[in-house]
Amino acid sequence: MTRFVCKPGGSLDGNFRVPGDKSISHRSIILASIADGSSHISGFLQGEDSLNTMRAFQQMGVPIARNQGEVTVSGVGLHGLQAPATDLDMGNSGTAMRLLLGLLAGQSFDARLIGDSSLSSRPMLRVIQPLQQMGAVIESADGGRAPLQVRGGQVLESIDYRMPVASAQVKSCLLLAGLYARGETIVHEPAPTRDHSERMLRGFGCDVASNAGEIRLRGNQALSACDIDVPADISSAAFFMVAASIASDSDITLQHVGINPTRTGVIDILKLMGADIDIVNRQEIGGEPVADIRVCSAALSGIEIPESLVPLAIDEFPVLFVAAACAVGETRLSGAEELRVKESDRIQAMADGLTRLGIETEVKPDGIIIQGGKLGGGEIDSHGDHRIAMAFSVASLAARRDICIRDCSNVNTSFPGFAELAQRAGIRISIDAG
Ligand code: S3P
Repeated sequence: MTRFVCKPGGSLDGNFRVPGDKSISHRSIILASIADGSSHISGFLQGEDSLNTMRAFQQMGVPIARNQGEVTVSGVGLHGLQAPATDLDMGNSGTAMRLLLGLLAGQSFDARLIGDSSLSSRPMLRVIQPLQQMGAVIESADGGRAPLQVRGGQVLESIDYRMPVASAQVKSCLLLAGLYARGETIVHEPAPTRDHSERMLRGFGCDVASNAGEIRLRGNQALSACDIDVPADISSAAFFMVAASIASDSDITLQHVGINPTRTGVIDILKLMGADIDIVNRQEIGGEPVADIRVCSAALSGIEIPESLVPLAIDEFPVLFVAAACAVGETRLSGAEELRVKESDRIQAMADGLTRLGIETEVKPDGIIIQGGKLGGGEIDSHGDHRIAMAFSVASLAARRDICIRDCSNVNTSFPGFAELAQRAGIRISIDAG
């Protein structure tokens, strides 16, 4: 079992690019597969999650050629997917499972979605229930968990759905099902969530209207192929933003990072804590804003995290908790119960690890209170969660003793080459392959 062994201290410098955006990579394969014509994707994330999505579409008869991060998808059109011969394995990825469920609900064939033990314990009723209201036939394991069996050949009706949780996965699932439904699908979001699906559907020539938290899409619209330049993932860049902030004498520039405003909560939160972050070289590429992000060391202070920023930073909280542990004073987070149903229970997993390092935390059902302090060292369990593993690697910069992190192989789901890049940037990390 892969362990990260991190020596204390270090500073960061350099100018580098982290791997491609995971959300955009998944969507690029999904949309290009059901488009008419051939789409070229560059900067595709070569992580296990997005590669699983790619394999699923190959299993459904889509010709896809990949050379590293360059991918060419020969789209088969809205109704051109074929029945897969075997189960579609989504591995660790909630995004892949929930988005594919929406797409599969509208196909003429049956399919079965499976995942690893973490994914098989995550809630799927949030997508199963609205899809059933549209006419989908889905069978699940107890409590609405994977494996999920989808019965094809149903006639889907559009839905007007108020999402109880602010979830881009639920929204995107329903928009994909909506492509196969009669009438206009309308999704209302309780708070803004990442809007890559809407932007990318438009890029593929689809008519999608978004206004004041209401997204509308007519069924049966054909998609036309389009080329996609996947920016670097701000969720992966976030580890280095916190790293350069908490380590002394650091100055890094992260290149070509996606700064879609539905994803930049991490920058806003770090700036509220006193981080020294500059966004330079702003451009718009393929409908997504992209920029270089310069981060220098800074003295951070604890804050009350505004609840409005929670959905905009939802994947960055593990490393933001490390920033909070290194800040002067108290940081309070509430309204973040969704963190409990990610790849692990991220509130508990982070609280346990920080406690192990000597940081005082108070866990709440929907958040946490963290007292900034001095970090010791010790053995941390990542619970097989990529972002927990990477967050504690960053913590080593401010630690006084070694930090060893167990169960790190899932870092490859979102950030292949993390340890190597982190080491080059200045984190004293090594991999113990066990
Ligand atoms: C994602 C949406 C978010 C996020 C996940 C990726 C997406 O999940 O946590 O990593 O690509 O749509 P929720 O929709 O559950 O908030």
